[in-house]
Amino acid sequence: MSQNNIYPKKLLPSIQIAMMLNTFTLPVPAVNAAPREEAYANFNKAGKLVQPTGYREWIFVGAPLTPNDMNNGKAAFPEFHNVYIDPVSWRHWKQTGEFRDGTIVTKELVSVGSKQTFSGNGYFQGEYIGLEAMVKSKEHFPDAPGHWGFFRFTIENSSNLLKASTVQAKESCSTCHQSGATDYVFTQHYPVLRAAKAKGEMRAGGK
Ligand code: HEC
Repeated sequence: MSQNNIYPKKLLPSIQIAMMLNTFTLPVPAVNAAPREEAYANFNKAGKLVQPTGYREWIFVGAPLTPNDMNNGKAAFPEFHNVYIDPVSWRHWKQTGEFRDGTIVTKELVSVGSKQTFSGNGYFQGEYIGLEAMVKSKEHFPDAPGHWGFFRFTIENSSNLLKASTVQAKESCSTCHQSGATDYVFTQHYPVLRAAKAKGEMRAGGK
């Protein structure tokens, strides 16, 4: 159907008048309407979480690092963790300070690259080496603490990722995540989340 045919003919004169008077608002598609949960966290028939994609376009909340050389050469997680939250849950977080049912937080693993650049010594990101995620879902994890399921797509010593991941045992992930400041998430390490918690948009310099 062409653009010209979307209004019934008899309405046209009043639309023209409205447009002349500048009082008419075209019916725009609801771009801000909340996408469905499935758009971000998809489960296959076997109940595995399908590898999330597109998360580098979600909200980036931080990049914690516990490098080997500050942990006697054997950090439990020696790589950078680039952490993202899906946009719908981010909006909910800003409004309520809570992680909604359906929240997905991804953590992309990035190796430590060079330790020196033109401005001095430090830790700089190297290559993408893995992906983990946590999903809050009463439906899928009715008995899990906080209804969070934890997933690991990383394949050791490979830059490939699993296409789908089974939920991890409680002891592997969520037991430690109890120490996260808000509902199993380590919000204490993410000023982006802390500043926006139930306060709406974060302003520069906002607490
Ligand atoms: C020994 C404690 C511990 C264990 C075990 C652990 N994590 Fe974490 N995780 C953390 C900490 C601390 C952070 C934040 C700092 C960082 O990333 O280094 C974190 C961050 C995360 C994040 C980003 C959101 C957040 O809460 O900061 C995800 C997603 C995540 N972990 C998934 C997992 C998965 C999946 C497992 C199990 C395979 C797991 N974690 C096991 C301590 C742990």
